[in-house]
Amino acid sequence: MTRRRTLLRGLAVAGGLLAAPAAGIGGYLYAESGRTNVGTLTFRNRLAVPPLLTPSTDHDGRKRFRLTLAAGRTELLPGTSTGTWGANGSILGPTLRVRRGDRVAVEVTNQLPETTSVHWHGMHLPAAMDGGPHQPIAPGQVWRPYWTVEQRAATLWYHPHLHAHTAAHVYRGVAGLFLIDDDESDTLRLPNRYGDDDIPLILQDRTFRDDGSLDESDLGFGGLTITGLLGDRILVNGTYDPYVEVGAEQVRFRLLNGANARVFSVGFTDDREFALVATEAGLREQPLPLRRLMLSPGERAEIVVPFRAGEQVVLRSFPPPLGGNAVYRRLAGGHDTFDLLKIVTADTLRPAAPPPERLGAPAPPVTDAGAAPPFRITMGDFLLNDRTMDPTRIDRVVRTGTVEWWEIVNGQLIPHNFHLHGAAFRVHEVNGRPPAPYLTGEKDTVYVPPGSRVRLAVRFLAHSDARTPYMFHCHLLAHEDAGMMGQFLTVSAQDAPLVPGRLVDPHTGHGK
Ligand code: C2O
Ligand code: CU
Ligand code: CU
Repeated sequence: MTRRRTLLRGLAVAGGLLAAPAAGIGGYLYAESGRTNVGTLTFRNRLAVPPLLTPSTDHDGRKRFRLTLAAGRTELLPGTSTGTWGANGSILGPTLRVRRGDRVAVEVTNQLPETTSVHWHGMHLPAAMDGGPHQPIAPGQVWRPYWTVEQRAATLWYHPHLHAHTAAHVYRGVAGLFLIDDDESDTLRLPNRYGDDDIPLILQDRTFRDDGSLDESDLGFGGLTITGLLGDRILVNGTYDPYVEVGAEQVRFRLLNGANARVFSVGFTDDREFALVATEAGLREQPLPLRRLMLSPGERAEIVVPFRAGEQVVLRSFPPPLGGNAVYRRLAGGHDTFDLLKIVTADTLRPAAPPPERLGAPAPPVTDAGAAPPFRITMGDFLLNDRTMDPTRIDRVVRTGTVEWWEIVNGQLIPHNFHLHGAAFRVHEVNGRPPAPYLTGEKDTVYVPPGSRVRLAVRFLAHSDARTPYMFHCHLLAHEDAGMMGQFLTVSAQDAPLVPGRLVDPHTGHGK
């Protein structure tokens, strides 16, 4: 219970700040400006682009991917080597790319010194293939999930999800992208040459010790880390101090906030406008012009950015509008500014048209959720609905293929966000009002500001399993690891009644 005690001590200190913001350490922190790396970078390292992983094809047409998780060393800061974890390499992992309709199998080999798991964040698949806490992979073991891709084109990702260890395993470097294409995304005139005019950007922050090793001391809680670790060094695709050269007039960036706790608000140093074309679960109906886009941990977005020949501009994270109290906002990184990536354009650019006026097919109306009262989840002191994560407890049972209202309530001063597996949602209201336009696409993760109420219309999958739950949780990884996670079953009428309870071990008939 050390974790919990440290957490409470951290909160006590933060509470003291609130009471006396002008005195002592509180006054110091309050006066200090936010953290920044602006002016300290030279943009000397070419941005790494995760390689596309080539699958083998089984005799029955199934695409088979192989991922091997292992520890290694990576040169991140100049002249130093850092111990990191990765999939098929020393840090991060390759990009898996499939089409809607594909039958997919992955062989995940764990050569790490610890048990872990690999979760396909945003993928619509049976709960037993989901890679959450119920599908651990012990050291030396191989896990073999398989499924059929049944969702529209989207930018998904994968990462470890072992309960209480997710923060450390992601921080050490295990994460990668999983892209889905479909006929609809093929026919749109969106940039689609991977690594050329369609560039993934995995945004992460880290803290290094003097000897170049990753500093894990703030991964949980303690002192003033109310959100979990906020690093002062930025990695993009595992590259520190990066630049990228582009050669087209329109470039698509697939942004993933792969950080443990940091919220980014991305934009360009010249404030140019860009078009938001997709959120986590797929293409928007129409592009949305923006100058800033906030992404909390786990959120993805696809943006299309116009460029002119022979220019340079920096992608920057501006102070994210986290909401809430100024002291807590500062502690949560709300005053921080970080340069992410310098973009240098070629002297002549391949002509390209801006995104078309119509993108994805309209999503089903949220009113499908009907008149039933919402399932309410109150985010408390590292609990959801006053309960800590228990792998044997089911908090909710839903019918396959239905839409439900879920309402997420953050009554705290601390920022949270919300993600659920085995579903996609539309944000219907934030504090009783329609959401900001950038939240109107289909999503699987959403920021939940301090003191706010976010109402979602959640569409569940057709896969029924009365024994294996999907997870819902705060995606600030320290919060998730500390217990802000719950479980739900998606079941058909013949499999199970809609009654939450205990998971029963199928072998003994007893609770696990
Ligand atoms: Cu990206 Cu349950 O997680
Ligand atoms: Cu997930
Ligand atoms: Cu949280």
